[in-house]
Amino acid sequence: MLKNNKPLRIALTKGRLEKDTVRLLESLGYDCTAVHEKGRRLILPIPDGNLEVVLAKAADVITYVEHGVCDMGVVGKDTLMEMNGKLFELVNLGFGKCKFALATRKDYPFYDGFGIKTIATKYPNVTKAFFENKNMDVDIIKIEGSVELAPLLGLADGIVDIVETGTTLKENGLAVVEDVSQISARLIVNTVSLKMRQQEIENFVQKVEAKINESEN
Ligand code: PRP
Repeated sequence: MLKNNKPLRIALTKGRLEKDTVRLLESLGYDCTAVHEKGRRLILPIPDGNLEVVLAKAADVITYVEHGVCDMGVVGKDTLMEMNGKLFELVNLGFGKCKFALATRKDYPFYDGFGIKTIATKYPNVTKAFFENKNMDVDIIKIEGSVELAPLLGLADGIVDIVETGTTLKENGLAVVEDVSQISARLIVNTVSLKMRQQEIENFVQKVEAKINESEN
C-alpha cells in the first residue's frame, strides 16, 4: 500500500485547553517547541512526529475537522454539543473539566409561576435541548460573552453557561439552579481520515488512551 507521508494535522483549541493539550502531546514524546515559540504563527510542525499542529478557536476546530482539512482535533464537549458536527468523538481526554449549568440570581425562584422564562446563553442549541427535555417553553437570547450580565441587567431570568470554579457566578450574586451536563476536552477525528489513515490515527489514539489511563491510575 502507498504510504502517506503528509503529516497528520491536528487542530488544537486556543486558550483554556491549549496548555493541557500541549502537555499531553509532550508526555507522548512529541517535541512541541514550535508551539511554545509560535509567536503569531498558526500552523506548527512537530519534527519527527509526522504531526502538524493548527491552533484555532473551538468552533473552528470542529469546522476544520468536519471538512477534513485537519485530520483530528481537540475541543471541549460544550462546543461539540452546540455544533453537533459530523465527526467521530474518539477519546474523552479528561482535562478541561467543567459543566453546563442553569443559573439565576441567588434565591430567584426560577421554576415558580407560569410565565415563559427568558434564558441568555452562548449555547442556544444546548439550552433548547435542555428545556425541550423538560417540556418547558423558554425564550432564548444569544449572548456572545460575559453571559452572567444578562440576569443582572434584567435581560433574562436565567442563563445556561459554563461553570468551572463557580467564581464568576459567586462574585456576581448568581447561583446554580440545576446542572445541565458535565464537560471535558475530547479528541475528535474526521470520518474520511479515519478510513484513509486508519493505522496512523489508531496508533496515535492508542498512545493517547494509554497515557490517560496511566494518569488516571
Ligand atoms: C466562561 C464562562 C463563565 C466563566 C466560568 O467564560 O462563560 O463566564 O468562564 O468560569 P468560573 O466558573 O471559573 O468563574 P470565559 O472566561 O470563557 O469568557 P466569556 O464570559 O467572555 O465567554
